[in-house]
Amino acid sequence: MADDDIFSVRPEIAASAHADAARYEEMYNASVADPEAFWAEHGKRLDWIKPYTKVKNTSYDYHNVSIKWFEDGTLNVCANCVDRHLKDRAHQTAIIWESDDPGVSQHITYQELYEQVSKFGNVLHSLGVKKGDRVILYLPMIPAAAYAMLACARIGAIHSIVFAGFSPDALADRINDCGAKLVVTADEAPRGGRATPLKANVDKALARCGSDVRCLVVRRTGGAVPMTEGRDVWYHDEVERVSDHCAPVEMSAEDPLFILYTSGSTGKPKGVLHTSGGYLLYASMTHQYVFDYQEGDIYWCTADVGWVTGHSYIVYGPLANGATTLMFEGVPTYPDAGRFWEVCAKHKVNIFYTAPTAIRALMGQGEEFVAKHDLSSLRILGSVGEPINPEAWRWYHRVVGRENCPIVDTWWQTETGGILITPLPGAIALKPGSATRPFFGVQPCVLNDRGEEITETACEGVLAIKDSWPGQMRTVYGDHDRFVSTYFEMFKGYYFSGDGCRRDKDGYYWITGRVDDVINVSGHRMGTAEVESALVAHPKVSEAAVVGFPHDIKGQGIYCYVTLMSGEEPSDELRTELRNWVRKEIGPIASPDVIQWAPGLPKTRSGKIMRRILRKIAENDFGALGDTSTLADPSVVDNLIENRAVK
Ligand code: WT7
Repeated sequence: MADDDIFSVRPEIAASAHADAARYEEMYNASVADPEAFWAEHGKRLDWIKPYTKVKNTSYDYHNVSIKWFEDGTLNVCANCVDRHLKDRAHQTAIIWESDDPGVSQHITYQELYEQVSKFGNVLHSLGVKKGDRVILYLPMIPAAAYAMLACARIGAIHSIVFAGFSPDALADRINDCGAKLVVTADEAPRGGRATPLKANVDKALARCGSDVRCLVVRRTGGAVPMTEGRDVWYHDEVERVSDHCAPVEMSAEDPLFILYTSGSTGKPKGVLHTSGGYLLYASMTHQYVFDYQEGDIYWCTADVGWVTGHSYIVYGPLANGATTLMFEGVPTYPDAGRFWEVCAKHKVNIFYTAPTAIRALMGQGEEFVAKHDLSSLRILGSVGEPINPEAWRWYHRVVGRENCPIVDTWWQTETGGILITPLPGAIALKPGSATRPFFGVQPCVLNDRGEEITETACEGVLAIKDSWPGQMRTVYGDHDRFVSTYFEMFKGYYFSGDGCRRDKDGYYWITGRVDDVINVSGHRMGTAEVESALVAHPKVSEAAVVGFPHDIKGQGIYCYVTLMSGEEPSDELRTELRNWVRKEIGPIASPDVIQWAPGLPKTRSGKIMRRILRKIAENDFGALGDTSTLADPSVVDNLIENRAVK
């Protein structure tokens, strides 16, 4: 039984870890017994301009949800990530940049980071960006992405990163939703040997935005891009004109740091808002303990800064800790399936953090790609983004970790700011596929359908959190009601995660996946409603229903049932056209895996689509369709089964 499949803590890891088993218990118990005292103490890991006297002021009361941490303290996030390290580690590498091209990499010291970020801050100033203004970053994984984030933090502007794989339409929606003043982009983004035309995408997006939005362009490839006079400027021109001193602005702990858009079960993506003090404290503390970061370690998180993982565990957490963080521009399979391991060997990486989808894809390529490279520097491995299946866990552990690196399976969300459930490598025995135990200050619980907390240790239900932690999101930008209704309405008094979970007899948590209409495709979160609305925007589509289905590599794939307008004929060409249409509307990550023509969709008599049935058909699980008697037209189901699209 998986619950009894245990990998005990390695003594050599425990011996030098920030927390061994006893210390974990002691700190965890203290953190929940007296959160005020615990966080008052750990808040000191940051440099404050004006120290806080208030620590926690949070309410999960449905009528009055409000989350504030360290509210009377002031600080600057950038100064905490850069300036304060100059005294002791000016010449230490802050960022190792590994380009898409395996021949090109760069080491950036804390001193250089300080100079680059200061200049970037002054360029933002010179374009009129002030404290509280929103700035969209639409960039490749290049050092300038980190400079831009930190520069915003330095001058008090709020950044919102849009993943470079999103389409011009998706970009325009985000620019408009947050009322950004400026978009920072690059000419092109090279990835896997191909270039995405970022600036051209911005041009298309800006055609849908107010005329006052400006564009700052960083040169990456040197590819020719048209510039619009009066609106667009080159970074390399502007930087010539600015000084290299830029004072960090004093910010309240509760001033916004960034907005990051993420998909929900309904409507358009929502702008998750994180603030300064609590977020940075939580990102930095989790980075230190979860990865057992030790002085001198080379740490690599393979995520993109377009996702929250890149915010908390490439930039803010590691840099707040004075760490050396590796930033990778490329993909795992270019120039070949050994790229991750080549980079680990080249830069002597000690801590490696990636996603199950990457592990599964590389597993399929064979062990030779790993064996070729010297991975003896690796000490800790991490996983994030979706449940890791035990088979992939074992491969990661045996082949990549040579059976001596603990794997930290970290469960968290864009909303949580940092890791909530995870093993600590020196403290908690591992079970393949389980995120194990809560981090300090985190009180998970399992609720039944009626919203009651299940008290038995071993149980299954939905995962909720009982009280706030400093890294929690504060609101949905511009829509606090949506924040309250999404996370606090269904289960009153709790933060509802949207995930299902099981707790085993040892109190270990096993995340079973989303319980809402959100799917997880290669670790990227997608609302089925978004894909549906993209499909029905096509002139030949009358109706669409989208569900997830199990996919060997992506975790979940996108399965679309499409009803055409009367008179339209299904064809393979139309299938391709619709697939391209969705890619254009949202971006390549939303590319449908399966499109099945559906003359009708299973609906209740009141017209509600029964997704449960569509999910079962997509999963090839016809025996368990459940009750179909409430359908307006039960024969619809037979038709869908008969014509189930072959994958
Ligand atoms: C959703 C959050 C956390 C940063 C990357 C994704 C799923 C995430 C795990 C894990 C099982 C996981 C959940 C969660 N998820 N990590 N270790 N085990 N599921 O952030 O895009 O906000 O997605 O990803 O379903 O709710 P996100």
